[in-house]
Amino acid sequence: MKYTIAVIPGDGIGPEVTAQAKKALNAIADVYDHTFIYKEAMMGACAIDATGNPLPQETVTVCEQSDAILFGAIGHPKYDNDPSAKVRPEQGLLSLRKQLGLFCNVRPVKAYEQLIANSPLKKEIISGTDISIYRELTGGIYFGTKELSEDGQVAFDGCSYSVEEIERIAHLAFKEAQNRRKKLTLVDKANVLETSRLWRKTVTALASQYKDVALDFLFVDNAAMQLILNPKQFDVILTENLFGDIISDEASVIGGSIGLLASASIGKENALFEPIHGSFPQATGKDIANPLASILSAAMLLTHLGLHAEANAIERAVQKSLALGITTEDIQQKEHSFSVSTSKVGDFIADYIENQDDSNLNFKNIHMGQSTII
Ligand code: IPM
Ligand code: MG
Repeated sequence: MKYTIAVIPGDGIGPEVTAQAKKALNAIADVYDHTFIYKEAMMGACAIDATGNPLPQETVTVCEQSDAILFGAIGHPKYDNDPSAKVRPEQGLLSLRKQLGLFCNVRPVKAYEQLIANSPLKKEIISGTDISIYRELTGGIYFGTKELSEDGQVAFDGCSYSVEEIERIAHLAFKEAQNRRKKLTLVDKANVLETSRLWRKTVTALASQYKDVALDFLFVDNAAMQLILNPKQFDVILTENLFGDIISDEASVIGGSIGLLASASIGKENALFEPIHGSFPQATGKDIANPLASILSAAMLLTHLGLHAEANAIERAVQKSLALGITTEDIQQKEHSFSVSTSKVGDFIADYIENQDDSNLNFKNIHMGQSTII
């Protein structure tokens, strides 16, 4: 089959990790006889530098006309410490999410057995963790009215949610729970926030349509604590935009590295796939950033296109790279004495997809930076 994929490499390490995801997709195209047509577009600090706009209209058009969007990372330090900057890279991503209506952000969190020792958390606490976070992505405080008084002394960020916004993602989260371990936890702050009370009321009302799913509730402060005290208690977590942003970064610690967490942002017409990590400016251009989150985002993209065997092939290759310790230094395992570069991890994944056979893997060659399969 033929698919058009919009590719937005973005800022910092975005281009490096996205290039590895494309290698994996090209290997898939080869093995499963698909054609992926990549349409590259700009967003973020690089787009501001080139056009003055973090999200040029052309990028939106390319995305609208694609079957799926693969995105790298956004952000640049020159904007981070400048609160007076009127134009910021992140506005590009937020505006794209809004314009394409990508309301449902899915962030899977798994403790990979091979990486248990890499997490600062205890093995017995994280082993077996498998959580699917459903984060609302186009509402809440991110998109409310923002004000700064003329004298600069008072700032305001409004937060609103409608029943419709809550219901559409809640349905998807309930369905995900039905396909998993049938537990849904709504994370909110209903003891304080009116919007959270509306979330509780709306989600509770929907529960009768999903009788096989056990619904429970946690205040976000408690949820933040429970996530590291006992992450195995969670199956699907449903939450609003800001809480989801925060707890998904926290949850990434369970997986051993934020460099492993992929995500899907789904709307009615479009879908975007991106690693949850940022642009990691310190690593930019050094070929050291972990490409696995981007590669796993490509796997989620394939699942979205209904290409399940293809997505599994990528996931198996990632598992294999972890099992063999062919990883970047952030998840280097103690018993292996070397880590490999971003591009070598990508080469290995692509090779493995092409061959799907590890009987002739040659460690020495991997280490030497030569072909991974002889
Ligand atoms: C994320 C990021 C974004 C967010 C930033 C870059 C605007 O942190 O996707 O989690 O806050 O949503
Ligand atoms: Mg975030």
